[in-house]
Formats: sequence, structure tokens, C-alpha cells
Amino acid sequence: MAFEHVDYKSLDVPDAPFAHPERIPSFPKGTVPKHVGIIMDGNGRWAQQRGLIRTEGHQAAEPVVFDTIAGAIEAGVRYLSLYTFSTENWKRSPQEVRFLMGFSRDIIRRRVAQMDEWGVRVRWAGRRPRLWKSVITELESAMERTKHNSVIDVVFCINYGGRAEIADAAASIAKQIRDGKISGDRVTERMIADHLYNPDIPDCDLVIRTSGEQRTSNFLPWQAAYAELDFVPELFPECGREVLWRSIEHYVQRDRRFGGVKAK
Ligand code: IPE
Ligand code: IPE
Ligand code: MG
Repeated sequence: MAFEHVDYKSLDVPDAPFAHPERIPSFPKGTVPKHVGIIMDGNGRWAQQRGLIRTEGHQAAEPVVFDTIAGAIEAGVRYLSLYTFSTENWKRSPQEVRFLMGFSRDIIRRRVAQMDEWGVRVRWAGRRPRLWKSVITELESAMERTKHNSVIDVVFCINYGGRAEIADAAASIAKQIRDGKISGDRVTERMIADHLYNPDIPDCDLVIRTSGEQRTSNFLPWQAAYAELDFVPELFPECGREVLWRSIEHYVQRDRRFGGVKAK
């Protein structure tokens, strides 16, 4: 069967960035998307196809996450947002939710040294309420440890929902108006952008979703309003840096107009 060639165990320790420079495609200067978002989908189906349980699919995704981060560094991506757990994922079974919480916490703890070594600045986008305290603690400690790194910002979107983010921004603006910190007669796009979870991070240029689903499932609706979209057929555990590079190659071919007209 098609998936037999994928030996995910061999990816357990992904090659560090630039371990094999000859494999990295050369993207024309200035064409690489600055901010890439990935909807890492298909772990459950990957497991199901192999007669495994869903959580084994999440486990198989771990090395792929780090292979993808290494590939993003190699390509020169500056911001990488990874959709890890959505505000809607609480609807899953208590066992799966528990697994995903514990697993996120453990991954951040286990991989922070590697990320630090690679020059990754760890970030988080998401809502605090409901999220496990231990996940927040681990994220905060990783963010503190890596705050001076500047090779790439990796944003773990955990308990993230785009509508929640915009609602939280609106609530925070309302509070500032109440407190007399801003005058309330005009709400601008800039003001909303400034109240998002990470206002310093630029808009998303490219959103990739794996597993063939063609929807964005509440991922970065504000930041990706003008992003190019690439829906790739591979289930996330079958992915890795080559899949990211292929999407960047597609992106490089796109003609981004932002509502304007391209000069001939
Ligand atoms: C993505 O894989 C991971 C998370 C949403 C946490 P899924 O778990 O959604 O896998 P499928 O879509 O059921 O195959
Ligand atoms: C989106 O995948 C969320 C993450 C990848 C974390 P889902 O599998 O939860 O999305 P739907 O349910 O297919 O829209
Ligand atoms: Mg899914």
C-alpha cells in the first residue's frame, strides 16, 4: 500500500537545520513567505489506516513537527504558526483531549533544548481558560528561555480559535475604552490587529492544510485574510520538510494582488 514506505520512526530525531544543505531547494531571493501557518490535520486517519488508535497518530506527528520546523528554518521562513489544538477540539472524547493536553505539555518540555539550539523563539497563541495549567506553565517557561532567539518564531496555537481571538480583542478594546485609555468613537482595523494575541507578528502569507480537507477550521481568520492557501493530500504524519518546501514552491508561483491590479 502507498503508505508502506513511510517509516516514521526513522524521523524520530529529525536532521538539524542545514545538516544536508544540498537537499534544500533554492528559492529566488525575497520570494519565501515570511509567515507560514500549518493546519496539521489527519493524525487520526493515519492511525486508523494502520489499525492503530487515534492517539498513536498524534505521537507519529511529533517528529514531523520538528522536521517541518527545521525545513522552515532552511527555507528562511521567519514565522511559523502551528495549529495544535483548537477551541473546538474540546468536543473530542475525554481520553483524546487528555492525551492531547499531556502530550503538548511533554513535547514542549522534551524539545525546548533542541528548539533553543536551533534558534527558535517559542510563542503561544490561544485562550487561557480551560487550557491545562501545566501546558501554560511549560509554554511560559519555553517562551522565557527562548525569548532572545531570532532565527524563527514558532507559534504553537493551543486552545486557539480565530473567532475567540477576535472576540478577546474586542473585549480588550472595550475595557480600554471603559478605563478611558482609548476614546471610544472609532474602532479601526489597526486597533483590532493591535489587540490580537501576538500583535507583533505580521499577517500570514501562506496557510497549508494537510490531509486533503479544504477548510480553514477557525485558523487565523484575521491574519490570513489575504493568505495564499495550499491544501495538500498527505496526512500530517506522512509530511515533513519536503511537503513544506513543495507548498512554498507553489506559493512562489502565485500572483498576489491584494485587490489591486498587477502592473504589466
Ligand atoms: C489533527 O489530526 C490533530 C488535531 C486536531 C489535534 P486529527 O486528530 O484531526 O486527525 P483526523 O482529521 O481525525 O484524521
Ligand atoms: C483543525 O483540525 C484543528 C487542528 C489541526 C488543531 P480539526 O480536525 O479539528 O478540524 P475539522 O473538525 O476537520 O474542521
Ligand atoms: Mg482532523
